[in-house]
Amino acid sequence: MFETLEKATLDKIFVLMAEYAADPRTNKIDLGVGVYKDDKNVTPIMSAVKKAEQRIHDGAKTKTYMGVVGNKGFSAGVVKLVFDGKVDESRIRTVNGPGGTGALSILMNVLSRARKGGKIWISDPSWPNHWPMAELVGLKPHYYPYFDARTRHVDFPAMLKALDGLGPDDIVLLHACCHNPTGANLTNAQWDQVAASLKKTGAFPLLDLAYLGFGDGLEADAYGVRRVVATVPEAMIAFSGSKNFGLYRERAGVAIAIAKDAASADIVSSQMQNVIRATISQPPDHGAEIIRVILDDPELTAEWKAELEQMRTRMIRLRQKLVEAIRARSNSTDYDFIADHRGMFSLLGLPQGVVEKLKLEDGIYMINDSRINVAGIPEDRVGELADALLAATR
Ligand SMILES: Cc1ncc(COP(=O)(O)O)c(C=O)c1O
Repeated sequence: MFETLEKATLDKIFVLMAEYAADPRTNKIDLGVGVYKDDKNVTPIMSAVKKAEQRIHDGAKTKTYMGVVGNKGFSAGVVKLVFDGKVDESRIRTVNGPGGTGALSILMNVLSRARKGGKIWISDPSWPNHWPMAELVGLKPHYYPYFDARTRHVDFPAMLKALDGLGPDDIVLLHACCHNPTGANLTNAQWDQVAASLKKTGAFPLLDLAYLGFGDGLEADAYGVRRVVATVPEAMIAFSGSKNFGLYRERAGVAIAIAKDAASADIVSSQMQNVIRATISQPPDHGAEIIRVILDDPELTAEWKAELEQMRTRMIRLRQKLVEAIRARSNSTDYDFIADHRGMFSLLGLPQGVVEKLKLEDGIYMINDSRINVAGIPEDRVGELADALLAATR
């Protein structure tokens, strides 16, 4: 049997993580892996999560099956967080997915049933998993222009031109906020234009919402999703609780479908459930229940929001500090874009050779496309990082 298989390539991030772990240098810096880290270089368990887990532990009486759609309270809490009651509930259907990836996978499977072999348009560049996930379900991925490598901001005219050229059979995958890997995001005015373009062409929006609250705040980060959903009749959203609740390994996600009316919503819901049943049968519940407990309790919600805000503002502070350190040393504004970017990542736009040199000579690890995770910047070593970046690019 296995003789027919070829070795598959693993996501390069896992290779980089192994290299970093094996590097004996004590001054190494990990800007590669995409998880939030605090000032002690730890990915913490949020205190609201700890409290919710304690309550679950003390109160749980059973581990019986939850059902195919998963934890309804979790989904309802997430829908409230994302839409704030602004979408008619009769048009919304949800199922839980194992993480944001699981949610995306369910939604892509349903879309591939609606448009067999259909085209899905992905930002260039994008999270490396979008492309293979689309291929796995039989959709045909294509890129639309997104990042301007010269300005390190969104090449919006090129993006909009591409979107304007699409039609009702096309699916467009949009990063709802905190674009991965670039860190370059649409302004609210640009979201308005994207929504208007989708309405005009009839192209279908699939929004990847993996970093709600990591950019400009929970409300501000929801602008794009809310705008699109308010403008077009149908959309899908994949919500991840991995980053904003720090629940990476618990795999908490929600697949959300917005249909034109309740009857159509019921059909989409049956398809989502059918996909779950035939793949994982039932979604996991531990992370989902943690988020439900937090969002159901005003005190825990407030505690979680305050922690999330601390994480978000820390990342912005690190961005500003790095830019200031580079400016102070070089008098150059070339890296100012880092402070304009939002979310966990920035694409520095460095050549491969420079990325390699930083790793080999300075022990500074980043993804080979030169994406850095700003949360990995040690606050007391920003100057060192600025020196190394400037020396490597001199
Ligand atoms: C853009 C994007 N989408 C989705 C995900 C999925 O996250 P998870 O499956 O861990 O919830 C990630 C995680 O890195 C991401 O960066």
